[in-house]
Amino acid sequence: MGQEINLLANYPQSKRNVKERGETKTEADRQLARQFGREFFDGERSHGYGGYTYHPRFWQPVVPTFVTQYGLCAGKKLLDVGCGKGFMLHDFAQLIPGIHVSGIDISSYAISNALETMQPYVQVADARSLPFQENSFDLVIAINTIHNLELDELKEALREIERVSRGNSFITVDAYRNAEEKELMEAWNLTAKTILHVDEWKSLFQSVGYSGDFYWFIP
Ligand SMILES: C[S@@+](CC[C@H](N)C(=O)[O-])C[C@H]1O[C@@H](n2cnc3c(N)ncnc32)[C@H](O)[C@@H]1O
Repeated sequence: MGQEINLLANYPQSKRNVKERGETKTEADRQLARQFGREFFDGERSHGYGGYTYHPRFWQPVVPTFVTQYGLCAGKKLLDVGCGKGFMLHDFAQLIPGIHVSGIDISSYAISNALETMQPYVQVADARSLPFQENSFDLVIAINTIHNLELDELKEALREIERVSRGNSFITVDAYRNAEEKELMEAWNLTAKTILHVDEWKSLFQSVGYSGDFYWFIP
């Protein structure tokens, strides 16, 4: 199994009140958010991001950690599964001249509204069926993406990440370590369909043969 490693330590911390956000959410909000359309990205805060716009302060501090961890440089191939509008890919491409970036996302809204510089490199696709050959990428990442699938579906996604990676992969998933974190997570969650205890995630990785690295999103 891969390493439990926090590669997003430099991502800016949110100042949101987690419990408050949970209390104002309805099942209808969740259903709308799970369509991953305009409402999720650029609609009201109760339906998702409340405006998903590029700002270098998000991913620019994070990319160097990936560079060091995986030896990324010109010529390497990177895939972002659930790339949204390609913000992180943009920062990879900018900070590592000559790297080959690719992204997929289930959301046709996100892909058609992706950053112009990333348009040639992103496409609509499902994490359960990645449109690439075996061993195509030096690094495959999926940040806060696969927990949006049902358990059986996310097993397929993990196997797909494993299949198209020829070396490294890194994912983050919604998780908890105790009852208090579980309660907070349930209050915070808008789109995830599978939220597990960290030990359950690790068993799952092992059982499906996911050999990449991983970390948790715990609000
Ligand atoms: C919370 S957002 C994270 C976006 C981006 N990775 C980031 O960290 O900013 C989750 C993303 O996963 C995408 N997604 C959800 N289900 C997916 C699936 N089955 N296949 C591919 N992408 C999916 C959504 O459209 C959305 O862009």
